[in-house]
Amino acid sequence: MITYKEIEDFIINAGSDDLPTFGGKYEGGIHCQQIPDEIASYILAILKFKQKIESYLEIGVAAGGTTYLFNHFFSLKKIVLIDDNKHHKAKLRPEVLRDVTYQEIIGRSETESSVETVSKVAPFDLIMIDGDHSYPGVKLDTVLYMPLLNPGGFLIYHDSNKVWGVQRVVRELKNDSSMEFIDEYISKQHPRPCGIALFRKKDRSL
Ligand SMILES: C[S@@+](CC[C@H](N)C(=O)[O-])C[C@H]1O[C@@H](n2cnc3c(N)ncnc32)[C@H](O)[C@@H]1O
Repeated sequence: MITYKEIEDFIINAGSDDLPTFGGKYEGGIHCQQIPDEIASYILAILKFKQKIESYLEIGVAAGGTTYLFNHFFSLKKIVLIDDNKHHKAKLRPEVLRDVTYQEIIGRSETESSVETVSKVAPFDLIMIDGDHSYPGVKLDTVLYMPLLNPGGFLIYHDSNKVWGVQRVVRELKNDSSMEFIDEYISKQHPRPCGIALFRKKDRSL
């Protein structure tokens, strides 16, 4: 089994989007918009479940740094990305993901056409919500896309420690009987942690 140190080293060496915001060793590479010790912790936590993670949906992708990392650590066969391409780093995505096979939906996640397109290729073993960080935006992404998660599948919220709208959705989801709250990963190294909340859809068939 891969160690925490190996995961964190790979992430740090792959490159950060912005050192003051996310930490890391250098700005560039895959331009990941996550704090290395937070993402390393929950990648390890998911790997410890030893279950297949083959399908992935990311809402809010920017340069694609997290997609690149998940593609590296999980055996992904289906990757679906939704992004409105409004972030100035979005133009780097084709280069960051040049060796990754993915389906991309350019537009807002809450539109009927995005939901319809994603529904046709659902379900997913892993979904990350990291697009619109307002409470209504995060809530809507949850309502629209959580049903597309496989039983036993994982749901990730970025910025659970930093952004009020995400915090509120995470708090509410802890009371949802269909979901199990696994943990919240808050950086011990960065002075302004983003926070990651990890949930798992309960498998009613067990
Ligand atoms: C924080 S960045 C994503 C960072 C990326 N997940 C990572 O870890 O490197 C958020 C992205 O979502 C996009 N975005 C915001 N709201 C959106 C929405 N409702 N639908 C699609 N994309 C959205 C932004 O333009 C931006 O590219």
